[in-house]
Amino acid sequence: MDLEKFQDKIGEIDTELRDVISGKKDPKEFYEPISYHILGGGKRIRPVLALLACEAISGDYKKALPAAASLELIHAFTLVHDDIMDRDTMRRGKPTVYSEWGEPLAINAGDGIFAKAYESLGRLKTEPEITVKALQELSDAILEVCEGQAIDISFEGREEVSTEEYLEMASKKTAALIESSTKIGAIIGKGTEEQVHALSKYGRDIGLAFQIWDDYIDFASEKTGKTHGSDIKKGKKTFIVCHCLEHAGSDKKTRLLEILNAPIEDTDKVMIAEAVEILNSTGSIGHAKEYAERLVNDAKDSLGALENSEAKNLLEGFADFVVSREH
Ligand code: IPE
Ligand code: IPE
Ligand code: MG
Ligand code: MG
Ligand code: MG
Repeated sequence: MDLEKFQDKIGEIDTELRDVISGKKDPKEFYEPISYHILGGGKRIRPVLALLACEAISGDYKKALPAAASLELIHAFTLVHDDIMDRDTMRRGKPTVYSEWGEPLAINAGDGIFAKAYESLGRLKTEPEITVKALQELSDAILEVCEGQAIDISFEGREEVSTEEYLEMASKKTAALIESSTKIGAIIGKGTEEQVHALSKYGRDIGLAFQIWDDYIDFASEKTGKTHGSDIKKGKKTFIVCHCLEHAGSDKKTRLLEILNAPIEDTDKVMIAEAVEILNSTGSIGHAKEYAERLVNDAKDSLGALENSEAKNLLEGFADFVVSREH
């Protein structure tokens, strides 16, 4: 599947986002980077998932639009700050906010986007108990993302990280928000406990697969719109790297760590290619792909708890997209 199928929903999400961030334009040092980042691309997968989850349960997705926009805004805020943490200069084929406006204004823009996310959630027209539940769920997810980001950064300075530790970190930094997207959609759709649980589990599993795949396309795709090989330059302990460090002989391990630990500006294309060769030689790339595909199959199994519907079929197809995407 490609994301074409969701163009109508994405159009409505974009309208909602445009609405939420419209209004004041001054000072431009605050509002310009916000609209640059929010309206300048992105696949919109979290809001689409929230709408699909709500639709799969209630047959209607429109009532979840403010929550969907809120989830996208939280995602957007994490990206602005993530690019500062990761020293990444390109995103969505354009300069990152901090490389365009500088770090202080990028941090500030991220803060503003965070506030807009809560403003957007306040536009929900559901019963107050449901809005409060969504609010609690969202806050829990954000805290988990921040925990995961902190762990991700701390791993950069470590010689060895196990695949188990990686999975816990990625489950927090990425899967938590994707899980909360399907969960909040299900809550707004007034799902039963079983349905909410099934859609949460689906979100958590595809979320983890999404991050493992993100680590893979970081060096394997030319279409991400991000810096090629950025994780290797920055010395990230990706799932693939953790597996390789667990399985490589000492020469390969030493060389891989040397490349990962070299300063960003010293890591050239040849070194990235050499690292990829080492990662391949231990079967780590293949292992990561198989692991992600298993998660996607588990996610599809979870959907068994839902009645058949077009939205359910789309969720099934979406799971496959996660492990075939090139951007
Ligand atoms: C990127 O997320 C950050 C990760 C969690 C890997 P997306 O790939 O959803 O980013 P955009 O919004 O489509 O650019
Ligand atoms: C994304 O991890 C996690 C969050 C933004 C919370 P990455 O650092 O891998 O995301 P990209 O590759 O920069 O989009
Ligand atoms: Mg990053
Ligand atoms: Mg990061
Ligand atoms: Mg990445």
